[in-house]
Amino acid sequence: MAINKQEHAQWSSSFGFVLAAVGSAVGLGNIWKFPYMVGESGGSAFVIAYLFCIALVGFPILVAEWLIGRRGQKNPVNTFVDVATSEGKSRSWGIIGASGILGGFLILSFYSVIGGWALNYVTKIATGQFVGQDSDAVGATFDAMLASAGTLTIWHTVFMFFTAVIVGIGVTSGIERTAKILMPLLGLILFVIVGYNVMNGGFGEAVAYLFTPDLSKLTEDVMIAALGHAFFTLSIGMGIMVAYGSYLGREVNLLKTARTVVILDTVIALAAGLAIFPIIFSNGLDPASGPGLIFVSLPIAFGSMGAGTIIGTLFFLLITFAAVTSAISLLEPTVEFLEERTSMSRTVATIVSSTIIWLLGIAALLSFNLWSDVTILDNNIFDALDKLTSKFILPLTGLAAIIFLAWRMDQRSIQQELGLSNGAFQIWQIVAKFVAPIAVVVVFVNALI
Ligand code: PHE
Repeated sequence: MAINKQEHAQWSSSFGFVLAAVGSAVGLGNIWKFPYMVGESGGSAFVIAYLFCIALVGFPILVAEWLIGRRGQKNPVNTFVDVATSEGKSRSWGIIGASGILGGFLILSFYSVIGGWALNYVTKIATGQFVGQDSDAVGATFDAMLASAGTLTIWHTVFMFFTAVIVGIGVTSGIERTAKILMPLLGLILFVIVGYNVMNGGFGEAVAYLFTPDLSKLTEDVMIAALGHAFFTLSIGMGIMVAYGSYLGREVNLLKTARTVVILDTVIALAAGLAIFPIIFSNGLDPASGPGLIFVSLPIAFGSMGAGTIIGTLFFLLITFAAVTSAISLLEPTVEFLEERTSMSRTVATIVSSTIIWLLGIAALLSFNLWSDVTILDNNIFDALDKLTSKFILPLTGLAAIIFLAWRMDQRSIQQELGLSNGAFQIWQIVAKFVAPIAVVVVFVNALI
């Protein structure tokens, strides 16, 4: 993100912008969360629902958030207030920005815990812990990590500390430039693992599991999980993309850029599925084993493939890196907001917000051990944070953003800004006014009744 610092800073190129957006979007959501959600939902039904949600809900909302951000040129709360008042609408639209900031805050608390797991696995794989181990031994190592509140706290702290330092001293642009090299490498290793799987069995079964349509499994729960995940994986419904949009130059084509980001994000998630499920099937593991899925499957492959120690170490390092680029985008809005709205300096704002997030993260990681029977509406704290954000805050915030754009803003100027012909704009309007909002509402109403 090469920023040229006149007035409100701007991305100097659309490429820099794509990098920052992909940096935020591609992360644990693609490699850790997507596969285990597929597994919990029984396979292809989730994949299909997810692809629909990405195309018909996620994509238009991503465009809406960027467009609103580019109009407003401020932090998300002020952007929504300004754009609303300049369109003659109520200031209370600022709430959309606020709920987004809250979402980032809550997500980062448990995100950092998983970032910590990935870091811990870098050290485990690098020291050859999994070499020659069978699935039982690999599973036992994972369970032992979960059972130790101390271990989880240490790694969560390291992850959160890195994130805070990067945001605090303001070197996010350097990190995002590094992403230009590291993200393609992550993609490459994913494909190496997929290649290994093609040779080592379970591949056909995994492809069938992921892609053979089985609509009987398409329940309301699966649909709401897929919808929530579409928001999570694209980093929308949070104000992050609104904030990014505010740095976006006029010349950037929003639709094309969104297409690039959405395709990259989806390809990485599907590749992660093809990297993991063959190992699950060929080792007789349970696809529905939850958040530990990548940690009990990938090490088996790394323990037995040639150069597995190097490839595995690198892979978990790259996952951690991808997680950090997402984490900084989760922390940044809170820090920026505190900086603009209070007298705190950037450093103080970073320390205050990351300390609170860190504490909340400790509550989340205790769900796996000491506090496993502490529940909120039948969910442990970790799951409660995850569900509250993915299933409620993100979709509702995103819904409000698309409604605002499609029903409250001047449509002619939007057509111009998107550079669409009349016919194409009509299709856009059908999706933005009806398909996306109705999909969110229908899924919700179904889930509530
Ligand atoms: N999109 C990121 C991922 O898939 C997570 C994230 C969610 C980041 C929301 C920012 C905002 O890992």
